[in-house]
Amino acid sequence: MKDHVTIFDTTLRDGEQSPGASMNAAEKLRLARQLEKLGVDVMEAGFPASSPGDFESVQAIARKIRNVQVTALARTSKGDIDRAWEAIREAANPRIHTFIATSDIHLKHKLNMDRDQVVREAVEAVRYAKGFTDNVEFSTEDGTRSDRDYLCRIFEAVIEAGATTVNLPDTVGYAVPEEYAQLITYVREHTPNIHKAVMSVHCHNDLGLATANTLAGITAGARQAEVTINGIGERAGNTSLEEVVMALHTRRDLIKLTTSVTANQIHPTSRLTSLITGIVVQPNKAVVGANAFAHEAGIHQDGVLKNPMTYEIMDPETVGLSSNRLVLGKHSGRHAFRTKLSQMGYELSKEELNRLFQKFKELADKRKEILEEDIEALVAEEILRVPDVYELDYLNVVSGTVEVPTATVKLKIRGKEAQSAGFGVGPIDATFNTIAKMTGSNSKLMRFSVNAITGGMDAQGEVTVRLQENGLVALGKGADPDIITASAKAYINGLNRLEYMKKNPRLSPSEGLR
Ligand code: KIV
Ligand code: ZN
Repeated sequence: MKDHVTIFDTTLRDGEQSPGASMNAAEKLRLARQLEKLGVDVMEAGFPASSPGDFESVQAIARKIRNVQVTALARTSKGDIDRAWEAIREAANPRIHTFIATSDIHLKHKLNMDRDQVVREAVEAVRYAKGFTDNVEFSTEDGTRSDRDYLCRIFEAVIEAGATTVNLPDTVGYAVPEEYAQLITYVREHTPNIHKAVMSVHCHNDLGLATANTLAGITAGARQAEVTINGIGERAGNTSLEEVVMALHTRRDLIKLTTSVTANQIHPTSRLTSLITGIVVQPNKAVVGANAFAHEAGIHQDGVLKNPMTYEIMDPETVGLSSNRLVLGKHSGRHAFRTKLSQMGYELSKEELNRLFQKFKELADKRKEILEEDIEALVAEEILRVPDVYELDYLNVVSGTVEVPTATVKLKIRGKEAQSAGFGVGPIDATFNTIAKMTGSNSKLMRFSVNAITGGMDAQGEVTVRLQENGLVALGKGADPDIITASAKAYINGLNRLEYMKKNPRLSPSEGLR
C-alpha cells in the first residue's frame, strides 16, 4: 500500500512573502479557488495578525473554500492565536498553525529567551489553540539549526498538549538532503509520542536544495510537505509544489508515496500564480518553465518525434499543457472563446466573460492570431487585477527624432477623471513622468523589462516594472501590442500594488520574528 503525503500549500502566506509579491484580497481568493481545484489538502491562507488586510483575505478564503483545510499562521501569543481563529473560524475544516524559533541563534539574538521558556510558551500556545479547534500545527522555526534533542523535547511537549501536526522547517535553506533525512529520522525515533502527530517538512531554497530536502524528509517518514506554487517565497523561495508532486508521480516506481493533487491543474495554477503575483517563472524552471518541454537540439527533436519517451520523462499533458493549442482570431465567436478559457482553467462569471470577450475582439482587430499567452495577458489585466486606485483611461505619446517626447495621459484616480501632459527623454520616460506627477508618486523605478509574449511582428509586448518606495517593493505588469501602452499599464499596476501595501503594512521584520 502506498502512503499518502499531505500537500500543505503556503503560496498565500510564505509565497506572498516574496519581495514585491503582495496580493490583494480578491486576487488571493481567486488563487485559493484554484488551489482547491488543484487538490491540495491544506492551504495556509495568511498570517492574520500581520495586517488587517491579511486578516480580511484569510477570512474571505475561510468562508468560501469548502473542500480544503484552511489554516492561518500565528506566533505563540494569545493575541495572534485569537486573531488567527477569528479569521478561520467559519472554515469547513480550520487549522491553527503556531510557531516559535528553537535554534540557539534565534533564542539568544531574537527572542532573548532560554530553552525552558520557549518550551513553556509553545505548550501554552498549543493548549490555547486547542481550545478553539482540534486541528493544531506547531512549527519549530529554524528547526534545522536547532539542537536535535531539544527538538525532540519540544515536540514531545507540544504533542502532549495536543498538536496534531509537528513541522520541522529548514527556515534558512541550510540543510542538505542526507542530513535533513537523518534529522527527521532522529526526531521520529527519539520523540516518544511522535506517532500521535503527523510529521511535516518545510524547506527554503537558499542552496537550491528545497525539493531534494523535502523528498529526503518524506522518504524518512514525514507525511506532510509544505510547498508553494512555482516555489515562490521569502529570499530564494520555498519548495515548489509542482516539483515534489511530479517527482513522486514520475518516480512512483521508486518512492511509494502518493498525493491528492490533480496533476493537470499544475500548469493553470502556475500561470495564475505568476499572473497574480507578477513573478515571472524562469524559463528553465522544472515542470512549469516555458522550456521545460522544449527540445532544441536536432538529435533530441528527432528522438521525441519518433517517441516522446526518448527525452521526455513526463507527458506535458499530465501537468496540464494542452496539445490542442487552438488559435483564435477575429472570426472566433463567444463559444470558442469560452471553451478556450475553460481549457486554460479559467471559469469566469457571465459578466467577466462579456467584458473579456469585448477586449478579445479589440485585440483580434489588431492581431491576426490570438494565442493562449495573449488570452492570459487579457485575463490578467481585465479580470485578475482589481484596479484599486489608478486606472488608465487614455494615453497619447508623441515622439521621434526631432520632437521632444511628450505624453498626454488621462487617468481615473479613485474613480475621478484627471488629465495631464509631460515630457521625458524618451516616450516611456515621458509617460512615467506624467503618471508620477498625476499620482504624486515618489516611487523609484528599479527595474524595467519588456518581453514579447508571442512571436511575430504583431506580438504583444509584456512589460514588468519593479517599483520601490520607502522600503516597499512592488512589481507591476502590463501587456499590449503597443509597448508604450504596455509600459503605462505596468507602471500603474505597480503603483496600485504599492498603494495596497501602504494600506496593509505587514509586521516589521523584528516584530515578525518574535
Ligand atoms: O520558514 C519557516 O520557518 C516558516 C515557519 C513560520 C513555518 O515559514
Ligand atoms: Zn518558511
